[in-house]
Amino acid sequence: MSKKIILSEDKLPKKWYNIIADMPNPIAPVFNPQTLKLISLDDMSAIFPHSIIEQEISNKRWIDIPEEVREIYKLWRPSPLYRAFELEKALKTPAKIYYKYEGVSPAGSHKPNSAIAQAYYNKQAGIKRLATETGAGQWGCSLALACSLFGLECTIYMVKVSCSQKPYRKSMMQLWGAEVIPSPSTRTNAGRAILEDNKDSLGSLGIAISEAVEDAATHADTNYALGSVLNHVCLHQTVIGLEAKEQMEIAGDYPDVVIACCGGGSNFAGLTFPFMADKASGKETRFLAVEPSSCPTLTKGVYAYDYGDTVKMAPITLMYTLGHDFMPPGIHAGGLRYHGDSPLVSQLYHEGLIEAKAYSQNSCFEAAIQFAKTEGIVPAPESSHAVRAAIDEALVSKEEGKEKTILFGLSGHGQLDMGAYDSYLSGGLEDYSYPADKVKESLSKLPKLDK
Ligand SMILES: Cc1ncc(COP(=O)(O)O)c(C=O)c1O
Repeated sequence: MSKKIILSEDKLPKKWYNIIADMPNPIAPVFNPQTLKLISLDDMSAIFPHSIIEQEISNKRWIDIPEEVREIYKLWRPSPLYRAFELEKALKTPAKIYYKYEGVSPAGSHKPNSAIAQAYYNKQAGIKRLATETGAGQWGCSLALACSLFGLECTIYMVKVSCSQKPYRKSMMQLWGAEVIPSPSTRTNAGRAILEDNKDSLGSLGIAISEAVEDAATHADTNYALGSVLNHVCLHQTVIGLEAKEQMEIAGDYPDVVIACCGGGSNFAGLTFPFMADKASGKETRFLAVEPSSCPTLTKGVYAYDYGDTVKMAPITLMYTLGHDFMPPGIHAGGLRYHGDSPLVSQLYHEGLIEAKAYSQNSCFEAAIQFAKTEGIVPAPESSHAVRAAIDEALVSKEEGKEKTILFGLSGHGQLDMGAYDSYLSGGLEDYSYPADKVKESLSKLPKLDK
């Protein structure tokens, strides 16, 4: 039996799948953070090109992937689907474990699937520069790569704690020509306000988003690119699940459970949404989103309208949130430190189509090392959350003596995360408990909308 299933380049999807066409209920409206009224297309055009705005609100089931984008995807796509035979053996489980590996992209994760598309549409619209934020550095690297391929300038606000945890991610962005600014910075009003309050702020994705949005909104030749959360980002990521479906078919299998880690939700959406489409034809697959217990947006957050960023510049959406100024502890899975979640993932979770689970970082690193020792690949700290959950599902299978097919998303490699592995191996990694008081305080500041 094949260890890995590789699709040829001509099997690269020609269209992205838009789950909005198949959602049981219409999607919730979005509000302007300044006026607290329904957001208009004009509001959005201050930071996004028209084609992206169209995708954000489209309810067409299939959206063409431009040929130029497919050509660049071919640098690493279709990505491989592996059967984790060695991990299965080590666990002595009757479960079959498959994983879709996105670490083969030049930046090392799933993030270029959207970065390439966003850079393409901005270039088409005559934009000169893109501004963005990055947590773990994976999105920053992906946008730096995409901008370099399309000849755009790129400014990246990188969460300060990640700059020190992941210095080589910063170098990678710089080698692709991006300017990297530790956030909070003195470059923007948003950054200065945070620093005035706390000059030692470690930063967060919410703050870095505020800085990047402000930069884009105040420069006519500059747009903003977001690495997750929004509908169009989830859309672009569906190439992952679309390929995985074909690969599972070649393997002669169909997953009973699909697992992915969930930060802003685009990785989870990308792998699971194309499989969710099969629910209508009677498939009973479970979908499990995995998050850190120190930033447990789905498992402990509330379903409410909230700002997408800390200083209230990003649109207000209905989502699971821990409060827009909630500052998660500096865990190593920097890409999972976001106070909110994709509105699409949130709505599907609220409607009971998705399950969620939270794990502490030590248990995830333990699973990642077991995976690396058996399967060879070193997972990114974010991806290790999916590895943990997949191993646990396989162990349940063993306990129950039942066969089960598990598919999980290995969203990136961890070769630039050795500082994190080093801390784990030397026993110095802290497990943070759920910061209930901080979340309560932050949730008291949810916006009151003019509905
Ligand atoms: C390797 C990796 N996996 C998963 C995630 C989470 O991604 P998302 O926001 O799409 O949920 C990130 C975020 O940076 C990441 O770097």
